[in-house]
Amino acid sequence: MKITLRATPATQQSSLLLFGLFEDEEFSGELKAVDKALGGYIKQLMKQQLIKTELGSLYPIIHPKMEKCPLLLVGCGKKSEWDAKKCKHAATIAFKHIHSTPINKVACYLTELPIKNQSVPFLVRQLTDAIFTSDYRFDAFKSKKQPASHLKEVMMHLPDHKHQKEAEIALKQGIAIANGAAFTKDLGNMPSNICTPTYLRDAAKKLAKEHKLSITVLDKKQMEKQKMGAILGVTKGSREEPYLIILEYKGANKKHKPYALIGKGITFDTGGNSLKPADSMVGMKYDMCGAATVLGTLKAAAELKLPVNIVGIIAAVENMPGGNAYKPEDILTSLSGQTIEVISTDAEGRLILADALTYCERYHPETVIDIATLTGAVVIALGHHATGLLSNDDNLAADLLKAGHDSQDKAWQLPLWEDYQEQIKSPFADMANVGGRAAGTITAACFLSRFAKKFRWAHLDVAGTAAMMSGTSERRATGRPVPLLVQYLINRASE
Ligand code: BES
Ligand code: MN
Ligand code: ZN
Repeated sequence: MKITLRATPATQQSSLLLFGLFEDEEFSGELKAVDKALGGYIKQLMKQQLIKTELGSLYPIIHPKMEKCPLLLVGCGKKSEWDAKKCKHAATIAFKHIHSTPINKVACYLTELPIKNQSVPFLVRQLTDAIFTSDYRFDAFKSKKQPASHLKEVMMHLPDHKHQKEAEIALKQGIAIANGAAFTKDLGNMPSNICTPTYLRDAAKKLAKEHKLSITVLDKKQMEKQKMGAILGVTKGSREEPYLIILEYKGANKKHKPYALIGKGITFDTGGNSLKPADSMVGMKYDMCGAATVLGTLKAAAELKLPVNIVGIIAAVENMPGGNAYKPEDILTSLSGQTIEVISTDAEGRLILADALTYCERYHPETVIDIATLTGAVVIALGHHATGLLSNDDNLAADLLKAGHDSQDKAWQLPLWEDYQEQIKSPFADMANVGGRAAGTITAACFLSRFAKKFRWAHLDVAGTAAMMSGTSERRATGRPVPLLVQYLINRASE
């Protein structure tokens, strides 16, 4: 699908014109002209209340005077309440409909509805996102596939010429982020009998080949040699080979330190011998979404040719119970040399991340961000709207909060005070892997912080945002936080 930006009306070349309608406002520029050409037809329909302006309501209109140019009107609610979220919502509904029709060319005039305090390029990004995400489907395992969209071209109208350059950049970014997020969603949605650590390794290899990234893979033997006791503890109960996958994107001079992204890649989390109840196990194929986010972000960064260096590290492991599996009260010696008493084998994510963080030191990273579906507690704290953010560096935290805001992929910071560290004391080892029910997200981050002392580090707990895991038909990966991370890298690259 092609998206073009143009400041002149595209009425002649299109097969469909898409307009938004506010409840309390005059028609915007081009719609005014179209309505005039139709002798006030649309105004009339509105007057008779046959067309309403409720957010997301759709009205296809064919008029004899514009036979070759049907209109699609989408309700946008009150102008005073119009914001980024509503804009994306209205656009998603409109494009979902368009994707299901034979229409192949659309002129989109939703850019004529400005969002308060936001630029036209920002609007372009939001709309681009809606155009692509409304066409996302995961039917690899359905016998009957949904027919593919016929849409070939969207001409996005620009209110004037002065934003052309920035809007082109926003469009490119929007497309790269949508592609990266779709890649992340595909991996997340894949079932764990197919998406094993080996599958993640192969997906990483394929991505590396396509985007000229360098890749290193450590298998179990190599992890043993390195003494990655924490990862090796978690993998013990599984018949699947674990992998530590390292990808490097070099978009800048060697002398620039890389931004490190570390992903939790538990391809299925049964809880291990601290077995999860059956109901809580549904959704645990998504426990590798952190890893999938690292891959999706690298894909987008490479597509955008961002002038930065990035190292992506993925710990890919399956967490299973069984006769050979690690057990509560086992003590593991991590790669860092610190010892860990396992209280729950279900707190496995922080264990594999611990060794990945230590391994990361050798890259002398500029900053390190780990992405993990780490705690159920973050869903209790923040629900499904914000990613939990914890960091040992307030500037890095601020940069990530801003990136979340800029990309509309929000995060919210929780404190990482020393006060919480005592909850993970162990009488037998340097630390325990759980800190009780209170502040579960914070104590998990406290645990990680002990392996992140040598660099500026932030932790993104995406258990509530990377996927909708409950409900039988509503389960799906979201592609978050790919937009936040790509935005962070874009912002860093432009400084
Ligand atoms: N993968 C889970 C976290 C999770 C829970 C993600 C729900 C998405 C939805 C993680 O490995 C886990 O089991 N965490 C435990 C930690 C506890 C044992 C300290 C949890 O949150 O219950
Ligand atoms: Mn677990
Ligand atoms: Zn887990």
